[in-house]
Amino acid sequence: MAKIHITDTILRDAHQSLAATRMRIEDMLPMAEKLDKVGYWSLEAWGGATFDSCLRFLNEDPWVRLRKLKEALPNTKIQMLLRGQNLLGYKHYADDVVDLFIKKAHENGVEVFRIFDALNDLRNIEQSVKSVKKHGGIVEACFSYTTSPIHTNEYFVNMAIEMEKMGADTICIKDMANLLLPYTAYELVRQLKQAVNLPIHVHTHNTSGTGEMIYLKAIEAGADIVDTALSSMANGTSQPATEPLVATLAGTEYDTGLDLGLITEISEYFKKVAAELKDEGFLKDKAKELDIRALQYQVPGGMLSNLMSQLEQQKASDKYYEVLEEVPRVRADFGYPPLVTPSSQIVGTQAVLNVLAGERYKIVTNESKGMLKGEYGKLPGDVDPELRKKIIGDAPVIEHRPADTIAPELDKYREEAKEYAKCDEDVLSWALFPQVAEKFFKARKAEELKLDENILDREKNIHPVV
Ligand code: CO
Repeated sequence: MAKIHITDTILRDAHQSLAATRMRIEDMLPMAEKLDKVGYWSLEAWGGATFDSCLRFLNEDPWVRLRKLKEALPNTKIQMLLRGQNLLGYKHYADDVVDLFIKKAHENGVEVFRIFDALNDLRNIEQSVKSVKKHGGIVEACFSYTTSPIHTNEYFVNMAIEMEKMGADTICIKDMANLLLPYTAYELVRQLKQAVNLPIHVHTHNTSGTGEMIYLKAIEAGADIVDTALSSMANGTSQPATEPLVATLAGTEYDTGLDLGLITEISEYFKKVAAELKDEGFLKDKAKELDIRALQYQVPGGMLSNLMSQLEQQKASDKYYEVLEEVPRVRADFGYPPLVTPSSQIVGTQAVLNVLAGERYKIVTNESKGMLKGEYGKLPGDVDPELRKKIIGDAPVIEHRPADTIAPELDKYREEAKEYAKCDEDVLSWALFPQVAEKFFKARKAEELKLDENILDREKNIHPVV
């Protein structure tokens, strides 16, 4: 009997997508015991933007959060989202940093590593896959779903075959912008199931309202695992809701086996958390509304809002539709990168400049140049040689794996962080977000000094000093 497995994203993508990643460990722990009883395939609870958000906004040590979650969820696999060679930051790291990060993430509690690269350049996930294999854990290799003349089902199926050869344990379709359509999902999953011998995991958002239909068709085509979020923090820019899908599949050959009563109870609790996040101004009703512009323009909803505000700042809102037409042209010029961080910002900003300057590529950002030089990895499609020359001149194009030329960096980070770092986890926090980590460590030190003084005070009272 086919059984569908569920990954719940309530502890990561749900609040990252709806509430600026502001859920705190105190909001999570009261429900951990119940969440642990549900029988999820995994709980996505770490990585993505949570690491940065912990240090930057919540005064929480992300590593301590992970250990607390692990302790509270002894029977459920904790899943993280990892951006390949970028880890959780915005640049490529040396292989020694990637390896130590994965070792420590696994030691502290991560079991499933969902690994992706924005450009789908598999060389950028090679080291992470190797390290998960070495230190333990499940490799969920992931491709960033997008649409273009290059990104056919065949393209993604070939990627999945390569990922299986690399040692992936599961394959994930990461439809971060909700561009996948239900019948396309059916055909893609069907072909993936024929081509590889691995469970297929589907991740989408409900930004444009097709989320549940995507899951249903993907399940009918043989998908094994889908990502949902408890209804109190589901839909809109978050995942489709868990409860309706569990109810839909109950009693069919796709039964999830999950207890609807139990998950409803947990969801009721997170309703209160959501209400608090709304009071604090982090959860906006707008994020839960359907935004069908992604279907109309094949451009992620979040990117459209960014373009709009960039144009407003330039007092050029009237150029919005011109820019919208320029985005796909720039994307084609750049070899059709999937529009996800960082390529969505690079392509979007370049499109705005092309329109406002009145001449295409008259002004070119350094990021656009970097992209055409291959600094982010190999672009999916070809770039016209003349256009490339116009933008980067005679600068060489990187043909090798970008991280090949990054010398080991751990010693440098250990040295930089030595005033504050007490353990490897601290060094890694520093490597990823140096300024934010320094501020966090300083506050931690001040807190500890205060504690020490309190203890001294108490001791003074017990043994009065004469
Ligand atoms: Co997502």
